[in-house]
Amino acid sequence: MAEHYLHSELEALKQEAAKLQQEYAAASAYIATLQVLQDVTRSLSSELNLEPLLQMILGSAVQVMRASAGSLLLLDRETDELVFEVIEGGGGEALQGTRMPADQGIAGWVVSHREPLIVDDVNRDNRHYRRIAEDHDFAITSLLCVPLITKGQVIGSLQVLNEEPGKYFDTADQEILTTFAAQSAVAIENARLYNSLREEHERIIAVEEEVRRELARDLHDGPAQLLASIIMSANFVKEAIAHNAMEHAIKELGELMPVAEKALRQVRTLLFDLRPVILETQGVIPALESYAQRLREAEDLNVVFRASGEIGRLSHNAEVAIFSIVQEAITNAKKHAKASRIEIEVIPSHDQVTVAVRDNGVGFDVKATTDRYDERSSLGMLNMKERAEIVNGTLSLSSTPGQGTSILLELPLTTNLASESP
Ligand SMILES: Nc1ncnc2c1ncn2[C@@H]1O[C@H](COP(=O)(O)OP(=O)(O)OP(=O)(O)O)[C@@H](O)[C@H]1O
Ligand SMILES: [Mg+2]
Repeated sequence: MAEHYLHSELEALKQEAAKLQQEYAAASAYIATLQVLQDVTRSLSSELNLEPLLQMILGSAVQVMRASAGSLLLLDRETDELVFEVIEGGGGEALQGTRMPADQGIAGWVVSHREPLIVDDVNRDNRHYRRIAEDHDFAITSLLCVPLITKGQVIGSLQVLNEEPGKYFDTADQEILTTFAAQSAVAIENARLYNSLREEHERIIAVEEEVRRELARDLHDGPAQLLASIIMSANFVKEAIAHNAMEHAIKELGELMPVAEKALRQVRTLLFDLRPVILETQGVIPALESYAQRLREAEDLNVVFRASGEIGRLSHNAEVAIFSIVQEAITNAKKHAKASRIEIEVIPSHDQVTVAVRDNGVGFDVKATTDRYDERSSLGMLNMKERAEIVNGTLSLSSTPGQGTSILLELPLTTNLASESP
């Protein structure tokens, strides 16, 4: 009797031990999986190129989930489609690059519901995207699909498949893959940001090069040629004077003057055109902001910039006109006004943008200056007016001696938005 009791007690203990051993093995496998995932996650953050990163993510997911195949899809927001970015195993490689509507198929369900999904028999699930399933012969039985979510936005889905009959994914698998997907989504987002920064940087360098090339060409074709001709004339004048041919010398000097004036005008126009790259890449408000900052820092001028609203990108001509006019107004304030404060203000409204430059300097008699403008060799004010007219704008100038000067540019938006050309 006692023997029988001992025997059954022993059996129970044996069973208990076997169960514990099983649990221990499962826990060890789980820890091993987590460790692998931790290693993978660490290396994810150091891969900044999108393609190898996606491959690394999918490869690790398939390996860790002990799946036989898998795929990673990213959402194309512009077309609202899911794109098969990487495929591993299962004979599905031909699917690479295939697109499907973002709300279709199992992946579409996961993406639109923002929830993971386990499907035990894919071929019997009516969420399965038939068009792709018919074109590609799969023997998938079981599938686990999780959404890729970062900063609250779904960016795609990650799925692993099992072709082995009877081998199903469970909720523990789902939990692991969901965690892994969250970390993967952050890495994907970082790689995308890095790539777009790199592209932006390359674009800025290309614009810079273009501006430099243009400047070199303009200097060569314009002022350089005129200067060569001025030197020749000057030599001629010198010879004429040496031979006492004063009439010739005076005539030659008379012809030389307009050439010299033309060269000066060209150089000034070129200086006007030397606009910062930020104007091309980010538009007029960031360009003026950084210009004002540069004046404060590099020239110790008290320049204040204010924009009382946003404007979208304007046409190239309009942006260049605004920037150049502000540049000349500031140069004048620096050169003539002895101002202790200069203000640049951009005021957008629904149909026009107003740009004001005000200084609190010595001011001047506008009428007297404009009346005698032809007699002067200066071009600044004339250039500002011409530039405003080219973009259908108006430029008004008011100044009171002793109280400062203000320049007001008004530009209609109807003809000056980025898509229009004035
Ligand atoms: N902000 C200002 N404060 C005081 N005087 C000014 C101001 N802006 C212009 N002026 C006066 O108006 C004149 C004409 O300006 P304009 O910009 O046309 O010529 P400039 O600055 O003398 O030469 P340039 O611009 O061709 O280098 C200046 O010479 C100056 O006397
Ligand atoms: Mg000037």
